[in-house]
Amino acid sequence: MTHDPDAPFEIEEIAPQLRAMPKVELHLHLEGGAPPTFIRGLAREKNVDLREIFTEDGGYAYRDFEHFLSVYEAACSVLTGPEEFYRLVRAVLAESASHGVVYSETFLSPDFCGKCDLSAWREYLAAIEEAATEAERDDGITLRGIVTCIRHFGPDQAKKSAMCAAETAGDFITGFGMAGAEDMGEQKDFVWSFDAAREAGLRLTSHAGEWRGPEEVRAAIRDLGVERIGHGVRGSTDAQLVEDIAEAGITLECCPGSNVFLGVSGSLADHPIAQLRSKGVNVTVSTDDPPFFHTDMNAEFLNLAKTFRWDVDVFRELNQNALAAAFCDEPTRTRIAKELETA
Ligand code: ADE
Ligand code: ZN
Repeated sequence: MTHDPDAPFEIEEIAPQLRAMPKVELHLHLEGGAPPTFIRGLAREKNVDLREIFTEDGGYAYRDFEHFLSVYEAACSVLTGPEEFYRLVRAVLAESASHGVVYSETFLSPDFCGKCDLSAWREYLAAIEEAATEAERDDGITLRGIVTCIRHFGPDQAKKSAMCAAETAGDFITGFGMAGAEDMGEQKDFVWSFDAAREAGLRLTSHAGEWRGPEEVRAAIRDLGVERIGHGVRGSTDAQLVEDIAEAGITLECCPGSNVFLGVSGSLADHPIAQLRSKGVNVTVSTDDPPFFHTDMNAEFLNLAKTFRWDVDVFRELNQNALAAAFCDEPTRTRIAKELETA
């Protein structure tokens, strides 16, 4: 339900409910969730000079998306082993849980975890899973991993990621995806990797339609066979595509705050999430790389409520959309559904 446009809308009336609401997040890059203080602390421990990637007040400093990707990779350079990833997972999940997230799917990149060497990847993954188990016990948040290849590292490197994913597919690693620079190559260049992941039983998603237009979203669905799209918002200009996505039940992992911060959308009011939802598309809300975009799940919910005058029921629907599209097993989905209901 959306409020009568002429009725007064007081965000403070629903803000406490939105903050207290348990939330499901499907699109979070683990390294992109690293608080800048965490990366600065590691740099100090390791005597690495990373001053150029921080602003004077301690945030991440970058000019545009291309520069964002290189700052992101510079931050990753101090995540040198499984112990660093253990600490990263604890920090990121504690932060997400503090904003009400009870279930999170994060993108994990074997490229940053032992450079796609399978035995190194297994060690990193063991540390990540140990941290996830402890976060579930201490912070009440459940984590599942989507192994992610990086588009601008090219299709051959992506194959190595896909092999890491296929070899470790199971209860924890449940998906495979692609992130990185959308202007490099084509979705179809990665067919081998996505086929290998699918054959290993992994569920599929790919970043598309964050920077390029509708044809990129079509290509991800047609060529890679994904069931979810990372962002997809630039597909919204094509009415036939929007109808097809709604009909096929493809879920869009929308990250409105990220899109506004990076200039994909001029403002939140211009963001197509409300229009896509009104056309029957399964839209969901996530933060992408929260400290880079000065956001969190509470901020996303509150800003959407203010901008589109959405009431609490809309956010319940968004959580349900996310849970239905989550890449977890059915017992986990049922357990999280109970948490959403009983809150
Ligand atoms: N990696 C981390 N954040 C990303 C984004 N917003 N788009 C593509 N790749 C990313
Ligand atoms: Zn992303």
